[in-house]
Amino acid sequence: MRYPEELIEEIRLRNDIVDVVGSYVRIQKKGSSYFGLCPFHSEKSPSFSVSPTKQMYYCFGCGAGGNVISFVMNYENYSFKEAVEHLAERAGIKLPEIEYTSEQKEKENKRVQLLNANREAAKYFYYLLRNKPGEAGLKYLKGRALTDETIDKFGLGFANITSDDLVKYLRSKGFKDDIIREAGLASYDEKHGMQDKFWNRVMYPIQDQNHRVIGFGGRVMSDAKPKYLNSPETMIFDKSRNLYGLNFARTSRKNHFILCEGYMDVIAMHQAGFTEAVASLGTAFTSGQASLLHRYTDAVYLAYDSDGAGVSAALRAIGILRDAGMTAKVINMRPHKDPDEFIKNLGVEAFQERIDQAENSFFFEVRILEGNFNLKDPDEKTRFIKEIAAKLVTFPDEITRENYLSAISDKYSINPESLKKQVAVLASKSLGDYVLSYRPKSGIQKKDAGEPAKKIQSFLLTWLCEEPKIYGLIKPYITIDDFTDDVYRKVAERLFSDLEKGQVNPGAIVDLFDEDEEKATVAKIFNTELVEITENNEKEKALHDLVLNVKRNSFDALNEKPDKDASDAMKIFNGKKALEQLKNIQFHIE
Ligand code: CTP
Ligand code: MN
Repeated sequence: MRYPEELIEEIRLRNDIVDVVGSYVRIQKKGSSYFGLCPFHSEKSPSFSVSPTKQMYYCFGCGAGGNVISFVMNYENYSFKEAVEHLAERAGIKLPEIEYTSEQKEKENKRVQLLNANREAAKYFYYLLRNKPGEAGLKYLKGRALTDETIDKFGLGFANITSDDLVKYLRSKGFKDDIIREAGLASYDEKHGMQDKFWNRVMYPIQDQNHRVIGFGGRVMSDAKPKYLNSPETMIFDKSRNLYGLNFARTSRKNHFILCEGYMDVIAMHQAGFTEAVASLGTAFTSGQASLLHRYTDAVYLAYDSDGAGVSAALRAIGILRDAGMTAKVINMRPHKDPDEFIKNLGVEAFQERIDQAENSFFFEVRILEGNFNLKDPDEKTRFIKEIAAKLVTFPDEITRENYLSAISDKYSINPESLKKQVAVLASKSLGDYVLSYRPKSGIQKKDAGEPAKKIQSFLLTWLCEEPKIYGLIKPYITIDDFTDDVYRKVAERLFSDLEKGQVNPGAIVDLFDEDEEKATVAKIFNTELVEITENNEKEKALHDLVLNVKRNSFDALNEKPDKDASDAMKIFNGKKALEQLKNIQFHIE
């Protein structure tokens, strides 16, 4: 499914990353790189860098990174193929027809058919809503105060009361039954044959970020249950990685999103001008959705229902957003249940005021916690304070923790000194736990033990890339097996082979990986900040230490591996030898 690598290489060479990124983002030269405001998260001072020599971009703020192709993929939300085609056209390169393997062909074909079936279904529902069969649906939506413009913008539709009209329609358009079923638009059983999934419901097409219909939510027009039916997950519909309304919200030009619970909320918010509103898809908010939002901003306002279920959902979302490195604020909807009702009753300005007054998510959490305790009872108050301390101790940044500590002490008339003490007790206890868990147990490496090793490996890889002549020095001692993480090893393998050929091209290494996260890791590796050393003998010593550390790390990791085989034994033998030799040599950098 890919173009030949030489062609991709040519496309990359003919699209200088500085020009391409510069056409989207204002960047300025600073030293050997260019800097600007990151287009993938919101920031006030520039931490987004573009390196002309490495042909890579990397954001020191949010960790987004990659090469010219992945930049276009992320910025335009293109697939790899679409980005390559765009860049080829930009550089005036003609692309050949590409060869697919039969398996790829089948998969791509299926994807296209599922998208087409969803699009046709959306068109059909759209038509019904605006004609005789959909009268009840249109009346329902108008009754919920939606304008024609809004109904059109969201492509709302109507599913007929007939049990197989969509099936018949799609068949008439040439779709096979198995595609209709796989798209989740119909089901089959022996008694009834093919039956539509959605009957007599108003239909909300769910679109991905590029406005492609990937599924549906269908709502009954009464109080009948279930209120909503949703398309099942399919090859094109991943509920944990899409958000309702994001196709519009991502270009809202606000520096935050508003996360709602329901489709109707999003629609009502957009109609009221809050085009930054999104909602999850009938399932709980996920970390995948958080990272999707994080591409655009750090800040999310929660507009969840004001009932008990809404509060628990908000608490969970706050945790997920915090883990994703984002900040959350909670909008108070009382006395109304959700944004839709709020706006209908109190209007746009009142809602804007609620946004402005939204509560810091930490205060929200503590306030909800407070509800579990009778603070007039001294014992209960003690427990309350301990719970607050347990929350405070999780703030990694000391200044932030101090600020929250004093604000919370004021608010709940807690003696700040005793709260501080409690936090300190917990902190030392959790540090103890950390030290215990950090020590490798029964030879099994803990996950975080890999972090310092990776950092050291990044130093070496960046150094090799910036000063290729040291490759000859380290070559006798370091092998690609010394890189203990899969991504790092693959990067090293390619970099070493490039160094053998005498042509280093870090931008190209990005394309060895398919996932965004891996591409960003490559950019991160090559953007490790090296301290500039001018004295040659200092440099030689630093390189020697570095190589020794990389070697020792991988040797230890291998040694601690629980079930070693013959080839491991060989590697350990060689590693030991290399370590011995390394201890006794000196590097000479000319
Ligand atoms: N939901 C669902 N299935 C249900 C109920 C709810 O998938 N049986 C999902 C839908 O995505 C819905 C969201 O949960 O949009 C929030 O539910 P709710 O607040 O009940 O729906 P609203 O969107 O507010 O719909 P309405 O205002 O029309 O009642
Ligand atoms: Mn509602």
